[in-house]
Amino acid sequence: MSKKILITGGTGYIGSHTAVELLQKNYEVFLVDNFSNSHSSVLQGIKKITSKEPHFTKLELTDKEAVAAYFEDHHDLDAVIHFAALKAVGESVEKPLLYYYNNIVSLLLLLENMIAYNIPYLVFSSSCTVYGEPDKLPIKETAPIKPALSPYGNTKQISEEIILDLAKVQENFSAILLRYFNPIGAHPSGFIGELPIGIPNNLVPYITQTAAGVRDVLHIFGDDYDTPDGTCIRDYIHVVDLARAHIAALERLLNNENETSCEIFNIGTGRGHSVLEIVHTFEKVNNMILPYVIDDRREGDVEKVWADTNKAQKILNWKPQFSIEDALRDAWQWEKNYRGIKS
Ligand code: WQD
Repeated sequence: MSKKILITGGTGYIGSHTAVELLQKNYEVFLVDNFSNSHSSVLQGIKKITSKEPHFTKLELTDKEAVAAYFEDHHDLDAVIHFAALKAVGESVEKPLLYYYNNIVSLLLLLENMIAYNIPYLVFSSSCTVYGEPDKLPIKETAPIKPALSPYGNTKQISEEIILDLAKVQENFSAILLRYFNPIGAHPSGFIGELPIGIPNNLVPYITQTAAGVRDVLHIFGDDYDTPDGTCIRDYIHVVDLARAHIAALERLLNNENETSCEIFNIGTGRGHSVLEIVHTFEKVNNMILPYVIDDRREGDVEKVWADTNKAQKILNWKPQFSIEDALRDAWQWEKNYRGIKS
């Protein structure tokens, strides 16, 4: 009998790629999403790749009654992977209440129902944003958590604390927190990928939309940082590698291999790339020239950050398989498919 896994934010960027990996490993997959930052067409993409249809329910995770009703109907779930959250750093500064309410209330309602129906395992989508500007690179999971630079980052820190405190005292409840670095790319099939609604906040979708002519020019936010080429450095990880890290974490919990009731892992490649390196690698692998201008720095940007991934590699037996080139090629393939660009 296949294990039953709920993915919240299941039609989102990382949620949909994780759904594909779970379906291909013969799990029974249940997706919920409110489509605030995704589209129902993603479900067709998942089906095209896997020839399987996940169960889907449109659900507002901050609606107490609706969430309770959902779990009443799905009380035999084996685990939950929780992606659903608002995640635009800039928007969170403008609309702090929206972010605190959405990201924290949805987590609290989810946890309440997991406990009520004795659903024992949670994999939580956290973020390297909890580290702020690191003192030491690469960053280990033991690095100090710095005061959040945005309400978004603060909701991730608060969420981690809530889960850690619950795991300390709650019988039959264990969690794994995955601190992502920068997810990029798309499924190699080209059937699913990043689908930001409105103007992309993140670098790679802005690059692919510029390449597609949807945006006139890429604005690079600052080239006067203390880095080799002056632009910020990040640890960019292929979204399929990231999805597979969730499977590794889930199976560690399902197999009761976790050593404590709440474990934390950095999920990145362990390598940093600058903005200009990403731009030039994109141009090279996709054989094009990308128009860009250098603008002022973006408020709140961290100068350089990349992961120490030894713990995930050793304990989760997980290692990134895709290169930056793969990710930038897949990102462009997806953009072209999505917009019907032939070439
Ligand atoms: C990367 C670099 C920008 C856009 C993001 C999310 C955060 C978290 C981690 C999930 C920076 C530069 C960007 C552009 C640019 N995700 N840039 N022009 O800020 O590291 O964090 O991923 O938890 O929620 O915000 O990623 O892609 O926004 O920026 O020059 O149009 O690209 O200044 O140096 P970031 P990003």
